[in-house]
Amino acid sequence: MLNAYVLGAVDLPKVDQDLINRRAKVMGPAYRLFYQRPLHLVRGEDVWLYGADGTKYLDVYNNVASVGHSHPHVVHAIADQAGRLCTHTRYLTAEPIDFAERLVASFPSEIGHVMFTNSGSEANDLALRLAFDATGGTGVIISSNAYHGTTHLIAGLSPSLGAGVPAYKNTWYVAPPIDGDGLAFGERITSALKEMQAKGVKPAALLIDSIFTSDGVAAEPAGFLATAFNVMHKAKALVIADEVQPGFGRTGSGMWCFARHGVVPDMVTMGKPMGNGYPIAALALRPEVIANFGMKARYFNTFAGNSVAIAAANAVFDVIENQDLIANSKKVGSAMAEALRQTMGFGVVRAAGLMVAVDIVNQNGAADPERATRLVNQLAQHGVLISTSRKDGSALKIRPPLTFSMAHLDLFLDKLTLCLKNERNGDS
Ligand SMILES: Cc1ncc(COP(=O)(O)O)c(C=O)c1O
Repeated sequence: MLNAYVLGAVDLPKVDQDLINRRAKVMGPAYRLFYQRPLHLVRGEDVWLYGADGTKYLDVYNNVASVGHSHPHVVHAIADQAGRLCTHTRYLTAEPIDFAERLVASFPSEIGHVMFTNSGSEANDLALRLAFDATGGTGVIISSNAYHGTTHLIAGLSPSLGAGVPAYKNTWYVAPPIDGDGLAFGERITSALKEMQAKGVKPAALLIDSIFTSDGVAAEPAGFLATAFNVMHKAKALVIADEVQPGFGRTGSGMWCFARHGVVPDMVTMGKPMGNGYPIAALALRPEVIANFGMKARYFNTFAGNSVAIAAANAVFDVIENQDLIANSKKVGSAMAEALRQTMGFGVVRAAGLMVAVDIVNQNGAADPERATRLVNQLAQHGVLISTSRKDGSALKIRPPLTFSMAHLDLFLDKLTLCLKNERNGDS
């Protein structure tokens, strides 16, 4: 994993080292911690995280607590509902239906149903199950450093997990449109489809993170996804927009990132920010995709769409609307991208709203993942949290809660300037 703690690589306070040892013993070897010096956190409030040692961190990275850590409106909604009733979708309760209607209304009219899940992985898994059923195909196209989640099928469609995770057998990879080649993306999808069909594999779906988060963020030119969608539809295959990262207003131009491209997916998956940390995720879809499946199979998922999860998601919607967070994402995100390009002089900044990536290069202009990791860890030492992206980890990934203000931006830029100065002086 990029930007991960290496066991034993740094001296840590005894209390943290003990926790790490106990964690490894009881939770096993597959978990990772962020940063060279892991953060031991005890509290969060809005864009701030607090360490056990009293350090206050500016969170410029979390898209789960997207309306701000421990937002009082969301906390109250969760507590209130938990104190009244927490049950599942096999009983008739009004709240999931009210919320599903609210969610459906945020999509273009073609999208008519919502199905609840507990995680983005489950939503993607369900989407593919439906795509296989609706098309009779099994071929799936994804971007070459995609991340879509953890179920057996979806981990096999998440090459960013690395070579140790076996790929799903009928996967075709396309290079992400991150080097200003957005318009060629549709052509790459056409080639992948041709290859797939030449091998006798029937296409089922293009599964794509609408902002290409783990590939390095691809935002411009808006509209570049249109050809890809058309080509898939011509091949009678479906398009699944994974909005787990960019959904709920992050990209600053409406709730959903795919809309920037003037396209309507067949299915949309969402999660992370949906409950501001409370587990809730969903699949929104065109009714025709599930019409046949629904006649022969049933769907029940014990915790998915439970009363408390729905209360959390409904409260998140309230906050996005009441605090005008989509407009804030656009305003602060544009100012951030502009400052990184103009004032700070970074050569390549890819951004849409508060989803921002900055390519880090060496003096010769070559991608420099070590430098990117150094900067991320220097910033953490100065109380500012970001991370990295791209296959080689050479881009900074900057993705704060949507409540991030211009004042927070100034503070972030000051700390980044300080880290770059230290780097020049050789004190990093
Ligand atoms: C684009 C994308 N899709 C899906 C997922 C999986 O979501 P979850 O961790 O809720 O299963 C993630 C998680 O990081 C993601 O970034």
